[in-house]
Amino acid sequence: MTAKILDGRAFAATIRSRVADHVRRLRDDHGLVPGLAVVLVGEDPASQVYVRSKGRQTAEAGMQGFEHLLAAETPEGELLDLIRRLNDDPRVHGILVQLPLPDHMDAAKVIDAISPDKDVDGFHVLNVGRLGTGQAAMVPCTPLGCVMMLRDHLGDMSGLDAVVLGRSNIVGKPMAQLLLAENCTVTLAHSRTVDLAGVIGRADILVAAAGRPRMIPGDWLKPGATVIDVGINRVPGAGDKTRLVGDVDFDSAVAVAGAITPVPGGVGPMTIACLLANTVTACCRINGLRLPEGLTP
Ligand code: GUN
Repeated sequence: MTAKILDGRAFAATIRSRVADHVRRLRDDHGLVPGLAVVLVGEDPASQVYVRSKGRQTAEAGMQGFEHLLAAETPEGELLDLIRRLNDDPRVHGILVQLPLPDHMDAAKVIDAISPDKDVDGFHVLNVGRLGTGQAAMVPCTPLGCVMMLRDHLGDMSGLDAVVLGRSNIVGKPMAQLLLAENCTVTLAHSRTVDLAGVIGRADILVAAAGRPRMIPGDWLKPGATVIDVGINRVPGAGDKTRLVGDVDFDSAVAVAGAITPVPGGVGPMTIACLLANTVTACCRINGLRLPEGLTP
């Protein structure tokens, strides 16, 4: 068997075009332009790349972007003041504070200062609670992208065995909630799980978000499984180059899985596309408008 390759670049382009269509409708019918504020504290090179990419894609979708670049030594109180101003700014419908934050800042306090209605990351405790209790929530972008790809490939997921590897607040835990909402039987596995190979071997759906390069060999997979690889790990490549690999050993997995996302080009591009989708969703909710189809969970 050779797995179907789930093309995240193509699917993300579809999401972005749905976003752009909806942005056009909001402008033409309601005079609204969705606005996304992105805050970066410090000069982490990977974060700078993400923030630039978010700014570019926000503009391409016809939305308004607000970029706030703060020095690494900015006092926490200054960041909280900025968040309060963004909460009150009617041009801003989504607020994202890029993580990680410098050590002198309390990330939980910063996230909880963001208005839950503008929390397009879905990290605020109120949104975490809403997702866990089946209420309308802002959903974290990477798991939202994963569930969109799964729905697109599998359709109805009722009764399927889903294993999520990794228990982070950003990916693993919300992913488990979303799969539960899709009526899967969900196992949330992690670094202390006993017999990980046995657990993964029962999965019809595997979402790997452990952050360990190629830790899952193909012979751990259930034949025909759908594999979503969230891992983005940089490893030594040819000569003095480096390359990106996932948490799943793609070359052996592709012979066993029914479908698999590649790294790069799988889940990665979906994250920013879902951030744009969440910003449109937030703009609609804040203004009491019908939610966009195909962009909300
Ligand atoms: N850093 C890495 N991923 C993310 C994300 O999804 N949101 C934010 N705010 N920071 C991140």
